[in-house]
Amino acid sequence: MSADPYRIGLLGHGTVGSAFDELLEERSDEIERFNGRRPVISGVLTRSRGEFEEVLAGADLLVELMGGIEPAREYLLRALRAGKDVVTANKQLLSQHGEELFETARVHDVRLRFEAAVAGAVPVVRVLEESLSATPIERIHGIVNGTTNFILTRMARGATYEEALAEAQRVGYAEADPSDDVSGRDAAAKMAILARLAFGSPVHLDDVRYEGIEHLQAEDLEYARELGLGLKLIGTAERLRGGLSVRVYPTFLYGGHPLATISGSFNAVTVESEAITELTLSGPGAGGRQTASAVLGDVVSVMTGGARPPAPPLALELIEDVESAFYLHLDVADRPGVLASVTTVLGEHDVSIKSVVQHGMGERARLVMVTHQVLESRMRAAVAEVAQFDFVRSPPRAIRVIEEEFL
Ligand SMILES: NC(=O)c1ccc[n+]([C@@H]2O[C@H](COP(=O)([O-])OP(=O)(O)OC[C@H]3O[C@@H](n4cnc5c(N)ncnc54)[C@H](OP(=O)(O)O)[C@@H]3O)[C@@H](O)[C@H]2O)c1
Repeated sequence: MSADPYRIGLLGHGTVGSAFDELLEERSDEIERFNGRRPVISGVLTRSRGEFEEVLAGADLLVELMGGIEPAREYLLRALRAGKDVVTANKQLLSQHGEELFETARVHDVRLRFEAAVAGAVPVVRVLEESLSATPIERIHGIVNGTTNFILTRMARGATYEEALAEAQRVGYAEADPSDDVSGRDAAAKMAILARLAFGSPVHLDDVRYEGIEHLQAEDLEYARELGLGLKLIGTAERLRGGLSVRVYPTFLYGGHPLATISGSFNAVTVESEAITELTLSGPGAGGRQTASAVLGDVVSVMTGGARPPAPPLALELIEDVESAFYLHLDVADRPGVLASVTTVLGEHDVSIKSVVQHGMGERARLVMVTHQVLESRMRAAVAEVAQFDFVRSPPRAIRVIEEEFL
Protein backbone atom coordinates (compact mmCIF):
# COMPACT_ATOMS: atom_id res chain seq x y z
CA MET A 1 0.00 0.00 0.00
CA SER A 2 1.42 3.40 -0.92
CA ALA A 3 1.96 6.09 1.74
CA ASP A 4 -0.53 8.93 2.22
CA PRO A 5 0.07 11.92 -0.03
CA TYR A 6 1.86 14.92 1.48
CA ARG A 7 -0.75 17.68 1.41
CA ILE A 8 0.25 21.22 0.53
CA GLY A 9 -2.08 24.17 1.12
CA LEU A 10 -1.20 26.96 -1.31
CA LEU A 11 -1.89 30.56 -0.29
CA GLY A 12 -1.64 32.67 -3.47
CA HIS A 13 -1.75 31.57 -7.08
CA GLY A 14 -0.11 34.49 -8.91
CA THR A 15 3.26 34.59 -10.69
CA VAL A 16 5.11 32.35 -8.21
CA GLY A 17 2.09 30.39 -6.92
CA SER A 18 1.03 29.22 -10.39
CA ALA A 19 4.65 28.41 -11.33
CA PHE A 20 4.93 26.40 -8.10
CA ASP A 21 1.74 24.52 -8.96
CA GLU A 22 3.14 23.65 -12.42
CA LEU A 23 6.58 22.69 -11.14
CA LEU A 24 5.07 20.44 -8.47
CA GLU A 25 2.99 18.69 -11.12
CA GLU A 26 6.15 18.07 -13.17
CA ARG A 27 8.30 16.96 -10.23
CA SER A 28 5.89 15.00 -8.00
CA ASP A 29 6.71 11.54 -9.49
CA GLU A 30 10.40 12.10 -8.86
CA ILE A 31 9.85 13.49 -5.36
CA GLU A 32 7.65 10.50 -4.48
CA ARG A 33 10.27 8.10 -5.83
CA PHE A 34 12.95 9.57 -3.55
CA ASN A 35 10.87 10.39 -0.48
CA GLY A 36 8.14 7.78 -0.44
CA ARG A 37 5.29 10.33 -0.27
CA ARG A 38 3.68 12.16 -3.14
CA PRO A 39 3.33 15.93 -2.66
CA VAL A 40 -0.08 17.20 -3.80
CA ILE A 41 -1.85 20.53 -3.65
CA SER A 42 -4.74 19.92 -1.27
CA GLY A 43 -6.21 23.43 -1.38
CA VAL A 44 -5.67 26.87 -2.90
CA LEU A 45 -6.54 30.30 -1.53
CA THR A 46 -6.68 33.46 -3.63
CA ARG A 47 -8.78 36.59 -3.28
CA SER A 48 -11.51 34.94 -5.35
CA ARG A 49 -11.35 31.28 -4.36
CA GLY A 50 -10.94 29.07 -1.31
CA GLU A 51 -11.48 29.46 2.45
CA PHE A 52 -8.42 29.78 4.65
CA GLU A 53 -9.77 27.47 7.42
CA GLU A 54 -10.48 24.72 4.90
CA VAL A 55 -7.09 25.04 3.21
CA LEU A 56 -5.37 24.92 6.62
CA ALA A 57 -7.36 21.95 7.90
CA GLY A 58 -6.64 19.91 4.79
CA ALA A 59 -2.87 20.50 4.68
CA ASP A 60 0.28 19.06 6.23
CA LEU A 61 2.22 22.17 5.20
CA LEU A 62 1.28 25.67 3.99
CA VAL A 63 3.10 27.47 1.18
CA GLU A 64 2.50 31.22 1.39
CA LEU A 65 2.91 33.06 -1.94
CA MET A 66 0.47 35.93 -1.43
CA GLY A 67 2.94 38.61 -0.36
CA GLY A 68 2.19 41.66 1.82
CA ILE A 69 1.84 41.83 5.59
CA GLU A 70 -1.83 41.14 6.31
CA PRO A 71 -3.53 38.73 6.06
CA ALA A 72 -0.31 36.74 5.39
CA ARG A 73 0.97 37.32 8.95
CA GLU A 74 -2.29 36.25 10.57
CA TYR A 75 -2.57 33.14 8.35
CA LEU A 76 0.99 32.03 9.04
CA LEU A 77 0.65 32.51 12.79
CA ARG A 78 -2.53 30.44 12.76
CA ALA A 79 -0.86 27.71 10.71
CA LEU A 80 2.21 27.56 12.99
CA ARG A 81 0.02 27.49 16.11
CA ALA A 82 -1.93 24.62 14.54
CA GLY A 83 1.34 22.68 14.29
CA LYS A 84 1.73 23.03 10.51
CA ASP A 85 5.07 23.61 8.82
CA VAL A 86 5.24 26.71 6.63
CA VAL A 87 7.22 27.73 3.54
CA THR A 88 7.11 31.38 2.46
CA ALA A 89 8.77 33.71 -0.07
CA ASN A 90 7.53 36.82 1.73
CA LYS A 91 10.48 39.14 2.50
CA GLN A 92 8.31 42.06 3.63
CA LEU A 93 6.66 39.89 6.26
CA LEU A 94 9.83 38.20 7.53
CA SER A 95 11.82 41.44 7.73
CA GLN A 96 9.10 43.14 9.77
CA HIS A 97 7.52 40.32 11.79
CA GLY A 98 10.18 37.62 11.58
CA GLU A 99 10.78 37.35 15.35
CA GLU A 100 7.09 36.81 16.09
CA LEU A 101 6.87 34.12 13.41
CA PHE A 102 10.16 32.40 14.32
CA GLU A 103 9.23 32.40 18.02
CA THR A 104 5.82 30.88 17.24
CA ALA A 105 7.46 28.21 15.07
CA ARG A 106 9.91 27.43 17.88
CA VAL A 107 7.22 27.18 20.56
CA HIS A 108 5.15 24.85 18.40
CA ASP A 109 8.19 22.92 17.18
CA VAL A 110 7.42 23.37 13.49
CA ARG A 111 9.52 24.49 10.54
CA LEU A 112 9.37 27.93 8.91
CA ARG A 113 11.35 27.94 5.66
CA PHE A 114 12.05 30.98 3.47
CA GLU A 115 14.76 30.31 0.87
CA ALA A 116 12.92 32.24 -1.88
CA ALA A 117 12.53 35.35 0.31
CA VAL A 118 16.20 36.32 0.06
CA ALA A 119 17.80 35.88 -3.33
CA GLY A 120 15.24 34.07 -5.51
CA ALA A 121 16.73 30.83 -6.79
CA VAL A 122 20.17 31.38 -5.18
CA PRO A 123 20.31 28.85 -2.30
CA VAL A 124 22.00 31.12 0.20
CA VAL A 125 19.73 30.33 3.16
CA ARG A 126 20.47 26.61 2.96
CA VAL A 127 24.21 27.21 2.54
CA LEU A 128 24.35 29.51 5.58
CA GLU A 129 22.26 27.18 7.73
CA GLU A 130 23.83 23.91 6.74
CA SER A 131 27.11 24.03 4.81
CA LEU A 132 28.47 27.02 6.75
CA SER A 133 26.85 26.29 10.12
CA ALA A 134 30.28 25.65 11.69
CA THR A 135 31.90 28.70 10.06
CA PRO A 136 31.98 32.00 12.00
CA ILE A 137 30.84 34.49 9.41
CA GLU A 138 32.41 37.92 9.41
CA ARG A 139 30.70 39.63 6.52
CA ILE A 140 28.11 39.18 3.81
CA HIS A 141 27.85 41.34 0.73
CA GLY A 142 24.88 40.82 -1.55
CA ILE A 143 23.38 41.98 -4.81
CA VAL A 144 19.88 40.97 -3.74
CA ASN A 145 17.71 43.06 -6.04
CA GLY A 146 17.69 42.05 -9.70
CA THR A 147 15.80 45.13 -10.93
CA THR A 148 18.41 47.60 -9.70
CA ASN A 149 21.26 45.40 -10.90
CA PHE A 150 19.66 45.34 -14.34
CA ILE A 151 19.32 49.15 -14.33
CA LEU A 152 22.92 49.69 -13.19
CA THR A 153 24.19 47.25 -15.82
CA ARG A 154 22.41 49.26 -18.52
CA MET A 155 23.71 52.55 -17.08
CA ALA A 156 27.26 51.18 -17.17
CA ARG A 157 26.74 50.71 -20.91
CA GLY A 158 25.72 54.34 -21.38
CA ALA A 159 21.97 54.49 -20.68
CA THR A 160 20.55 57.19 -18.40
CA TYR A 161 18.72 56.13 -15.23
CA GLU A 162 15.36 56.92 -16.84
CA GLU A 163 16.14 54.92 -20.01
CA ALA A 164 17.40 51.95 -18.00
CA LEU A 165 14.32 51.97 -15.73
CA ALA A 166 11.98 52.16 -18.74
CA GLU A 167 13.75 49.15 -20.27
CA ALA A 168 13.51 47.20 -16.98
CA GLN A 169 9.75 47.86 -17.00
CA ARG A 170 9.41 46.89 -20.67
CA VAL A 171 11.09 43.49 -20.17
CA GLY A 172 9.13 42.83 -16.97
CA TYR A 173 11.92 43.14 -14.37
CA ALA A 174 10.53 46.30 -12.79
CA GLU A 175 6.96 46.75 -11.55
CA ALA A 176 4.81 49.66 -12.74
CA ASP A 177 5.60 51.16 -9.31
CA PRO A 178 9.29 50.35 -8.87
CA SER A 179 9.80 52.41 -5.70
CA ASP A 180 10.53 49.48 -3.33
CA ASP A 181 13.29 48.28 -5.67
CA VAL A 182 14.96 51.56 -6.66
CA SER A 183 14.79 53.04 -3.13
CA GLY A 184 16.79 50.09 -1.78
CA ARG A 185 13.94 49.03 0.55
CA ASP A 186 13.47 45.60 -1.05
CA ALA A 187 17.20 44.90 -0.73
CA ALA A 188 17.13 46.18 2.87
CA ALA A 189 14.36 43.69 3.74
CA LYS A 190 16.40 40.84 2.28
CA MET A 191 19.57 41.94 4.09
CA ALA A 192 17.63 42.05 7.40
CA ILE A 193 16.66 38.39 6.83
CA LEU A 194 20.19 37.40 5.77
CA ALA A 195 21.77 39.19 8.74
CA ARG A 196 19.50 37.39 11.18
CA LEU A 197 20.39 34.10 9.60
CA ALA A 198 24.15 34.67 9.48
CA PHE A 199 24.57 36.29 12.90
CA GLY A 200 21.61 34.89 14.87
CA SER A 201 20.63 38.39 15.97
CA PRO A 202 17.12 39.80 15.49
CA VAL A 203 17.27 42.42 12.71
CA HIS A 204 14.18 44.37 11.70
CA LEU A 205 13.82 46.22 8.39
CA ASP A 206 13.91 49.46 10.43
CA ASP A 207 17.42 48.56 11.66
CA VAL A 208 18.80 48.58 8.11
CA ARG A 209 20.11 51.86 6.72
CA TYR A 210 19.56 52.11 3.01
CA GLU A 211 19.87 54.40 0.01
CA GLY A 212 18.59 53.75 -3.48
CA ILE A 213 19.85 54.32 -6.99
CA GLU A 214 17.42 57.05 -8.08
CA HIS A 215 19.95 59.87 -7.73
CA LEU A 216 22.85 58.25 -9.55
CA GLN A 217 24.12 59.86 -12.71
CA ALA A 218 25.51 58.05 -15.76
CA GLU A 219 28.43 60.48 -15.44
CA ASP A 220 29.44 58.89 -12.09
CA LEU A 221 29.78 55.54 -13.82
CA GLU A 222 31.96 57.06 -16.54
CA TYR A 223 34.39 58.71 -14.12
CA ALA A 224 34.46 55.63 -11.95
CA ARG A 225 35.44 53.53 -14.95
CA GLU A 226 38.56 55.68 -15.30
CA LEU A 227 39.37 54.79 -11.69
CA GLY A 228 38.77 51.07 -12.39
CA LEU A 229 35.43 50.92 -10.56
CA GLY A 230 31.98 49.49 -11.35
CA LEU A 231 28.74 50.45 -9.56
CA LYS A 232 26.35 48.04 -7.80
CA LEU A 233 23.59 48.28 -5.19
CA ILE A 234 25.30 46.36 -2.39
CA GLY A 235 23.78 45.07 0.83
CA THR A 236 26.24 44.49 3.64
CA ALA A 237 25.84 42.67 6.95
CA GLU A 238 28.95 42.45 9.09
CA ARG A 239 30.26 41.90 12.57
CA LEU A 240 31.85 45.10 13.76
CA ARG A 241 33.33 46.13 17.11
CA GLY A 242 31.39 43.38 18.92
CA GLY A 243 28.14 44.44 17.24
CA LEU A 244 26.46 44.20 13.88
CA SER A 245 25.99 46.60 10.97
CA VAL A 246 23.43 46.05 8.22
CA ARG A 247 23.15 48.50 5.34
CA VAL A 248 22.35 48.88 1.63
CA TYR A 249 24.04 51.52 -0.53
CA PRO A 250 25.01 52.11 -4.14
CA THR A 251 28.66 51.11 -3.96
CA PHE A 252 31.66 51.06 -6.27
CA LEU A 253 33.67 47.86 -6.57
CA TYR A 254 37.04 47.16 -8.11
CA GLY A 255 37.15 44.55 -10.88
CA GLY A 256 38.61 41.83 -8.64
CA HIS A 257 35.60 41.71 -6.31
CA PRO A 258 33.38 38.69 -7.04
CA LEU A 259 30.25 40.88 -7.20
CA ALA A 260 31.77 43.20 -9.82
CA THR A 261 30.92 40.80 -12.66
CA ILE A 262 27.29 40.06 -11.65
CA SER A 263 25.27 41.67 -14.39
CA GLY A 264 21.67 41.99 -15.55
CA SER A 265 18.93 40.75 -13.26
CA PHE A 266 21.11 38.17 -11.48
CA ASN A 267 21.55 38.12 -7.70
CA ALA A 268 24.70 37.09 -5.84
CA VAL A 269 25.84 36.78 -2.25
CA THR A 270 29.43 36.74 -1.03
CA VAL A 271 30.13 35.25 2.38
CA GLU A 272 33.43 36.11 4.04
CA SER A 273 35.02 34.24 6.90
CA GLU A 274 38.59 33.70 8.00
CA ALA A 275 38.03 29.95 7.66
CA ILE A 276 36.84 30.02 4.04
CA THR A 277 38.22 33.39 2.76
CA GLU A 278 35.21 34.05 0.56
CA LEU A 279 32.49 32.10 -1.16
CA THR A 280 30.10 33.48 -3.74
CA LEU A 281 26.73 32.14 -4.85
CA SER A 282 24.94 33.65 -7.82
CA GLY A 283 21.92 33.01 -10.00
CA PRO A 284 18.50 34.33 -11.02
CA GLY A 285 17.04 36.53 -8.29
CA ALA A 286 13.43 36.45 -9.42
CA GLY A 287 11.02 35.04 -11.97
CA GLY A 288 8.06 32.77 -11.28
CA ARG A 289 9.66 29.45 -12.18
CA GLN A 290 13.04 30.25 -10.66
CA THR A 291 11.47 31.37 -7.38
CA ALA A 292 9.11 28.39 -7.41
CA SER A 293 12.08 26.03 -7.62
CA ALA A 294 13.49 27.50 -4.38
CA VAL A 295 10.04 27.16 -2.75
CA LEU A 296 9.74 23.52 -3.84
CA GLY A 297 13.26 22.87 -2.52
CA ASP A 298 12.07 24.09 0.90
CA VAL A 299 8.99 21.87 0.72
CA VAL A 300 11.08 18.78 -0.06
CA SER A 301 13.49 19.69 2.73
CA VAL A 302 10.60 19.86 5.24
CA MET A 303 9.09 16.60 3.87
CA THR A 304 12.35 14.79 4.45
CA GLY A 305 12.82 16.28 7.94
CA GLY A 306 16.02 18.05 6.91
CA ALA A 307 15.16 21.55 8.03
CA ARG A 308 15.47 22.46 11.71
CA PRO A 309 13.08 24.75 13.61
CA PRO A 310 14.57 28.28 13.86
CA ALA A 311 17.17 28.86 16.59
CA PRO A 312 16.48 31.44 19.34
CA PRO A 313 18.07 34.85 18.66
CA LEU A 314 20.91 36.50 20.57
CA ALA A 315 20.77 40.27 20.17
CA LEU A 316 23.91 42.08 19.04
CA GLU A 317 24.28 45.84 19.29
CA LEU A 318 23.61 47.65 16.01
CA ILE A 319 26.56 49.76 14.87
CA GLU A 320 25.54 52.90 12.99
CA ASP A 321 28.82 54.65 12.15
CA VAL A 322 31.00 52.43 9.97
CA GLU A 323 34.18 52.97 7.98
CA SER A 324 34.23 53.04 4.21
CA ALA A 325 36.27 54.39 1.34
CA PHE A 326 34.38 56.94 -0.77
CA TYR A 327 34.16 58.20 -4.32
CA LEU A 328 33.59 61.97 -4.25
CA HIS A 329 32.36 63.91 -7.26
CA LEU A 330 32.73 67.70 -7.21
CA ASP A 331 31.49 70.12 -9.85
CA VAL A 332 33.72 73.18 -9.35
CA ALA A 333 34.84 76.43 -10.96
CA ASP A 334 38.06 75.89 -12.90
CA ARG A 335 40.44 78.20 -11.06
CA PRO A 336 43.71 77.90 -9.15
CA GLY A 337 43.66 76.75 -5.54
CA VAL A 338 40.45 74.71 -5.74
CA LEU A 339 42.07 71.31 -5.29
CA ALA A 340 44.23 72.62 -2.43
CA SER A 341 41.19 74.08 -0.60
CA VAL A 342 39.27 70.82 -0.97
CA THR A 343 42.12 68.60 0.20
CA THR A 344 42.74 70.87 3.22
CA VAL A 345 39.12 70.52 4.39
CA LEU A 346 39.14 66.78 3.77
CA GLY A 347 42.41 66.46 5.70
CA GLU A 348 40.94 68.36 8.68
CA HIS A 349 38.26 65.65 8.87
CA ASP A 350 40.78 62.77 8.58
CA VAL A 351 39.76 62.04 5.00
CA SER A 352 42.82 61.08 2.98
CA ILE A 353 42.80 60.79 -0.79
CA LYS A 354 43.84 57.68 -2.65
CA SER A 355 43.36 58.88 -6.25
CA VAL A 356 42.11 61.94 -8.13
CA VAL A 357 40.88 62.55 -11.66
CA GLN A 358 40.44 66.14 -12.81
CA HIS A 359 38.65 67.19 -16.01
CA GLY A 360 38.62 70.78 -17.19
CA MET A 361 35.43 71.78 -19.04
CA GLY A 362 35.83 75.45 -19.90
CA GLU A 363 34.83 77.53 -16.88
CA ARG A 364 34.00 74.47 -14.85
CA ALA A 365 35.92 71.40 -13.81
CA ARG A 366 35.05 67.98 -12.47
CA LEU A 367 37.10 66.82 -9.54
CA VAL A 368 36.62 63.12 -8.91
CA MET A 369 38.47 61.36 -6.13
CA VAL A 370 38.56 58.14 -4.19
CA THR A 371 39.39 58.34 -0.49
CA HIS A 372 40.96 55.85 1.89
CA GLN A 373 38.81 54.31 4.65
CA VAL A 374 37.15 56.87 6.89
CA LEU A 375 34.24 56.89 9.36
CA GLU A 376 31.03 57.83 7.54
CA SER A 377 30.31 60.59 10.07
CA ARG A 378 33.68 62.22 9.28
CA MET A 379 33.09 61.97 5.54
CA ARG A 380 29.62 63.48 5.91
CA ALA A 381 31.00 66.40 7.90
CA ALA A 382 33.82 66.96 5.36
CA VAL A 383 31.42 66.90 2.40
CA ALA A 384 29.05 69.33 4.13
CA GLU A 385 31.96 71.75 4.62
CA VAL A 386 33.27 71.37 1.06
CA ALA A 387 29.75 72.09 -0.23
CA GLN A 388 29.96 75.56 1.38
CA PHE A 389 32.82 76.74 -0.89
CA ASP A 390 31.68 79.35 -3.41
CA PHE A 391 33.53 77.49 -6.19
CA VAL A 392 31.35 74.35 -5.74
CA ARG A 393 28.69 74.59 -8.45
CA SER A 394 26.33 71.73 -7.57
CA PRO A 395 25.84 69.45 -4.54
CA PRO A 396 28.81 67.07 -4.10
CA ARG A 397 28.07 63.37 -4.61
CA ALA A 398 29.72 60.85 -2.28
CA ILE A 399 29.35 57.13 -3.05
CA ARG A 400 30.85 54.30 -1.00
CA VAL A 401 33.66 52.13 -2.38
CA ILE A 402 34.48 48.55 -1.39
CA GLU A 403 38.24 48.18 -1.65
CA GLU A 404 38.66 44.43 -1.22
CA GLU A 405 39.45 42.32 -4.21
CA PHE A 406 39.92 38.56 -4.15
CA LEU A 407 42.43 38.04 -6.91
N1 LIG B 1 7.57 37.38 -8.59
C1 LIG B 1 8.82 37.07 -8.27
O1 LIG B 1 9.69 36.94 -9.13
C2 LIG B 1 9.18 36.85 -6.81
C3 LIG B 1 10.54 36.54 -6.47
C4 LIG B 1 10.87 36.29 -5.14
C5 LIG B 1 9.88 36.37 -4.16
N2 LIG B 1 8.60 36.70 -4.51
C6 LIG B 1 7.60 36.78 -3.44
O2 LIG B 1 6.60 35.79 -3.69
C7 LIG B 1 5.35 36.25 -3.19
C8 LIG B 1 4.31 36.18 -4.31
O3 LIG B 1 4.71 37.01 -5.37
P1 LIG B 1 3.97 36.98 -6.81
O4 LIG B 1 4.84 37.77 -7.70
O5 LIG B 1 3.60 35.60 -7.15
O6 LIG B 1 2.64 37.83 -6.46
P2 LIG B 1 1.29 37.95 -7.35
O7 LIG B 1 1.55 37.53 -8.75
O8 LIG B 1 0.75 39.30 -7.07
O9 LIG B 1 0.32 36.86 -6.69
C9 LIG B 1 -0.26 37.01 -5.42
C10 LIG B 1 -1.29 35.93 -5.21
O10 LIG B 1 -1.74 36.03 -3.85
C11 LIG B 1 -3.15 36.19 -3.84
N3 LIG B 1 -3.55 37.10 -2.76
C12 LIG B 1 -3.06 38.35 -2.53
N4 LIG B 1 -3.67 38.89 -1.45
C13 LIG B 1 -4.54 37.95 -1.00
C14 LIG B 1 -5.46 37.92 0.07
N5 LIG B 1 -5.63 38.96 0.89
N6 LIG B 1 -6.19 36.80 0.26
C15 LIG B 1 -6.05 35.74 -0.58
N7 LIG B 1 -5.20 35.71 -1.63
C16 LIG B 1 -4.45 36.82 -1.82
C17 LIG B 1 -3.54 36.77 -5.18
O11 LIG B 1 -4.88 36.46 -5.42
P3 LIG B 1 -5.66 36.88 -6.79
O12 LIG B 1 -5.11 35.92 -7.81
O13 LIG B 1 -7.09 36.63 -6.47
O14 LIG B 1 -5.30 38.31 -7.02
C18 LIG B 1 -2.52 36.07 -6.10
O15 LIG B 1 -3.02 34.79 -6.44
C19 LIG B 1 5.60 37.65 -2.63
O16 LIG B 1 5.86 37.57 -1.25
C20 LIG B 1 6.85 38.09 -3.38
O17 LIG B 1 7.59 39.06 -2.65
C21 LIG B 1 8.24 36.94 -5.80
